Amino acid sequence: MKAELLLAEALAATPQPDASSVRLLLAELLDCSPVEIPLKGQVELSAESITRFWDWHARLQQAEPPQYILQKAWFYGLELTVNPSVLIPRPETEGLVELALGLLKPDAGILEIGTGSGAIAIALATHLPQAALLATDSSPAALELARRNALAHGCHIDFHLCDLFPDTRDSFDLIISNPPYISEEEFASLEPRVRDYEPRQALLAKQDGLEFYHRILRGAKERLAPGGRVLFEHGATQRAAVRHLAQTLGYSCFLAQNDLAGRERYLGFTHI
Ligand SMILES: C[S@@+](CC[C@H](N)C(=O)[O-])C[C@H]1O[C@@H](n2cnc3c(N)ncnc32)[C@H](O)[C@@H]1O
Repeated sequence: MKAELLLAEALAATPQPDASSVRLLLAELLDCSPVEIPLKGQVELSAESITRFWDWHARLQQAEPPQYILQKAWFYGLELTVNPSVLIPRPETEGLVELALGLLKPDAGILEIGTGSGAIAIALATHLPQAALLATDSSPAALELARRNALAHGCHIDFHLCDLFPDTRDSFDLIISNPPYISEEEFASLEPRVRDYEPRQALLAKQDGLEFYHRILRGAKERLAPGGRVLFEHGATQRAAVRHLAQTLGYSCFLAQNDLAGRERYLGFTHI
């Protein structure tokens, strides 16, 4: 069977919102990017490839994210291995990296809290090879994957398994985090692809989703170098609450920006 015929059959058997996921699966089979599929439409696929494709497709129909099916995700131009122990890195988090790169000197000291797949730390390390990067997570399986990803990209990152902050005396020019920020209430209404597959530990936060902002801001005070900054990704309805929290803890806000979809998404603080 030719690739273009398989694509047509698969798209006919797939709800429209999943069309891009079908293209991702087929691209993997054809060893190309989704935009290159039309160039490979005449490729003859083996029976084994076709079976593999329909197995993946069945998993997609069960709402499994294509990134977990293929065990890979793209972030800031980097291919990363992912599995259900880590959050699939999101395009909006690339905006956080972009903002950080605009703030940092080349040899900055950076702490990333809740690194998951390592996406943020690895993207920063690749663009700032002289920076000193330390990244933490409380999930051993996530850290193992982050280490693998860092190795694959030749990045030197000091990974620590801990609750938010490493047990070191370092101070940092930047403390960056995309922490869990989904409240219990919001969790129930997440789409099944997220709720049923991505790790709860990467999503859920107490105190109406604000727990980690609170704890990170409290702990960051004594770990920021002079002039150091805290940079957060946050939920689209959390800006006012996080800013208020930070102000009550003695921070001033120097940055409040939206993501490419226009949603309130990033906040930056310095400690007064
Ligand atoms: C929203 S995910 C972010 C993952 C990755 N940084 C990204 O942006 O794609 C939050 C991460 O925080 C980690 N985490 C949750 N509680 C933590 C804690 N107490 N200390 C350190 N990391 C924690 C989770 O395991 C998860 O990897």
